[in-house]
Amino acid sequence: MISSRAAVRHISARRITAVSAVRAASAWSKVPQGPPDAILGITEAFKADSHPEKINLGVGAYRDDSAKPYVLPSVKAAEKHVVDSNLNKEYAGITGVPEFTAAAARLAYGEDSKPLKEGRIVITQSISGTGALRIGGAFLQRHYPHAKTIYIPTPSWANHNAVFSDSGLKVEKYRYYNKDTIGLDFDGMIEDIKKMPKNSIVLLHACAHNPTGVDPTPEQWKAISDAVKAGDHFPFFDMAYQGFASGDTVQDAFALRYFIEQGHLPALCQSFAKNMGLYGERVGAFSLVTESTEEKKRVDSQLKILVRPLYSNPPIHGARIALTVLNDAALNKQWLGEVKGMADRIIKMRALLKDNLEKLGSKHDWSHITSQIGMFAYTGLSAEQMDKLAKDHSVYATKDGRISVAGITSGNVKRLAEAIYKVAG
Ligand SMILES: Cc1ncc(COP(=O)(O)O)c(C=O)c1O
Repeated sequence: MISSRAAVRHISARRITAVSAVRAASAWSKVPQGPPDAILGITEAFKADSHPEKINLGVGAYRDDSAKPYVLPSVKAAEKHVVDSNLNKEYAGITGVPEFTAAAARLAYGEDSKPLKEGRIVITQSISGTGALRIGGAFLQRHYPHAKTIYIPTPSWANHNAVFSDSGLKVEKYRYYNKDTIGLDFDGMIEDIKKMPKNSIVLLHACAHNPTGVDPTPEQWKAISDAVKAGDHFPFFDMAYQGFASGDTVQDAFALRYFIEQGHLPALCQSFAKNMGLYGERVGAFSLVTESTEEKKRVDSQLKILVRPLYSNPPIHGARIALTVLNDAALNKQWLGEVKGMADRIIKMRALLKDNLEKLGSKHDWSHITSQIGMFAYTGLSAEQMDKLAKDHSVYATKDGRISVAGITSGNVKRLAEAIYKVAG
């Protein structure tokens, strides 16, 4: 028998145990479940499929003709050079490795660029293209003196909306793609640019528009530049595919350089993910063309104030690889050849896919497959047809009908054409 005092002690001890067993409500108990990332979802479905000849056309990364990831030989050689140089691992400055940003600016704007020669381009290294967009969005949110609304094309890269809204900008759309012609809605685009309130921010894909692969012609770019100028709008270029589109880094920079010749002072986001295959190294740059060296200095100080609390300073390894590729004459020449090789393989796969569809007797006109440019083809297939491609043929791509041409190989193109023919006729 236990004494009454001991019983009281026993009961309180149990009570304490019972109370402490009730967990404090988690701070995250009301966090809603978010939807899975559209592209990662495709990769998951692809992985789970046991079909021996399954095809993944969802991912926006280059594959060689055996559908394997490709490390460019010039990049491998540059990386070896970096490693052999035994450099230290000290922090870079806030705006990154200066030899890298200087080389990146020369690549985009051209050696003979007037604002570059005059020292009016302010540039910071970034966490690849996405980081560049985010720095740009945040800078405009803080310092753009007009309405902080950015107009992006319909459709656009899936992340643009999120990057710019998270930067605090209001995101609006302009017409870009014409479903009926599977081409550029040039008139709609010009009309919308003309309708925007004065001083709007206009996002332009510099080349290889993602997801449509539809780019304006040089003549159309000229008219776009005029319309942007007439509205006193601010051109904001996203150039994630320089060299990757046509195989020629100069040709792909046409729009950016033309705008500058016309007196625009644009913003530019660069990525070395695709053209150097440095995806996971996260190498990129954000730059602004300013009016004077004095203005550049002020803007540079504000970019540093913005970047410092974000990540202090960027990673150095990928930037060192890229600067070696860009600055070493022999490696640079080799790299340009390899970029062309990637672009040419994609162009060849486009032609093969179209040929195969025609040989099968498809009733559709597939000429857009070869007229579009860059990593993606916007097939014009509906969401239901894309579903059928996945379910019945183990061919995976996004529901909007976009296929990554980089995932097509000489080994799978025939089967792909047959699958498309079966679902679309
Ligand atoms: C249009 C566009 N902008 C920016 C990016 C950013 O890519 P990353 O952050 O890998 O450089 C991509 C990548 O697919 C893109 O397609």
